[in-house]
Amino acid sequence: MSTRTWRLAAFAVVVAGAMVVLGSCKCPCGKSDGKGAKQAMDIDVTTFGKTPEGQEVKLYMLKNATGATAKIMTYGAIVVSLEMPDSQGQMDDIVLGYDNLEGYLKVSPYFGAIVGRYGNRIGNGTFTLDGVAYSLAQNNNGHHLHGGIKGFDKVVWDHKPVWKADGVGVELSYLSQDGEEGYPGNLKSTVTYVLTNDNELRIDYVATTDKATPVNLTHHGYFNLTGGERDILGHVLMLNANKFTPVDAGLIPTGELQPVKDTPMDFTKPTAIGERIEADFEQLKAGGGYDHNWVLNRTGRGLSLAAKVVEPTTGRVMEVLTTEPGIQFYAGNFLDGTITGKEGTVYQHRWGFCLETQHYPDSPNKPSFPSTILRPGDTYETTTVYRFSAK
Ligand code: GLA
Repeated sequence: MSTRTWRLAAFAVVVAGAMVVLGSCKCPCGKSDGKGAKQAMDIDVTTFGKTPEGQEVKLYMLKNATGATAKIMTYGAIVVSLEMPDSQGQMDDIVLGYDNLEGYLKVSPYFGAIVGRYGNRIGNGTFTLDGVAYSLAQNNNGHHLHGGIKGFDKVVWDHKPVWKADGVGVELSYLSQDGEEGYPGNLKSTVTYVLTNDNELRIDYVATTDKATPVNLTHHGYFNLTGGERDILGHVLMLNANKFTPVDAGLIPTGELQPVKDTPMDFTKPTAIGERIEADFEQLKAGGGYDHNWVLNRTGRGLSLAAKVVEPTTGRVMEVLTTEPGIQFYAGNFLDGTITGKEGTVYQHRWGFCLETQHYPDSPNKPSFPSTILRPGDTYETTTVYRFSAK
């Protein structure tokens, strides 16, 4: 499958920043993996396939100094695999997806992708901005979802390797044309993934535009910290949020901020995802379980803890930190066993969960929500970190 492979590696970069060396070499200053073995950070780029239009798709394999890996492809800026250790040091792939590009091209509920230009829903696919009415694709029960018919999850991004003192990554950029999927303005987006030596997947989002436009970029990874052994109902979740945005039958926010207290939406104390997901609670009906935006308890403007997930059987822990005001917790309710993913695994109901950091859904039509409008001359900048450990 691979037509060309090129390897890049950096010499010791810890002190004075990155020095990129083309060729094949390893970083001699890799950290210990806890068992005494030192590993080299590495970036390996191969060809993953071609789109039906003939565009070549690259796959970046990032390896950090502890041996954790992330594979990220240039189609959809998709995280194809993410291997992290459990409490015994056993590496497993903890994200859902496919073994090859063809799977993603055929059918994918946004597995591992960057979604945009507007992640989540815009009611009826319409909004008015500076007195002009815009009409977007209605690709979700009459509403607009995840950027439309051909959103950022279905385009091929430009790419370059990134060497940091504390990790390796890939910078992906995409120019969305004025009018694409109905949105105004040429929007230049850059998404940088870095796999750090502390087993974090850090995502930096930057965007600029030449006309005012809504922007809400997020990552749509489906996690299963068991390594895909069983559904995610036993994962124990904490959401750092005292309120959520209730939705109507089409999963469009009503505009209220509702306290989670005394409801199955309360994850302020760690609770198994499955404990109340079938509760007789009206808000759990529309999306067939959890599929809502939580209003994060934020302190200041920097990175703040949004969520923590513990998987008791493997000891794997995932923390989510973000600069965003909200997080969509989606429990994989629409997975129904019709998708066969990696290594022949059938993705049954609730086989993965998503924690999509974001601005609130339908913000362009909800003046009381924090604004998602980016204007020429301003820069959209957000950061989200998925941090992994084991106990
Ligand atoms: C998001 C939405 C869900 C669903 C998934 C994809 O998380 O909120 O309702 O559409 O994407 O299946």
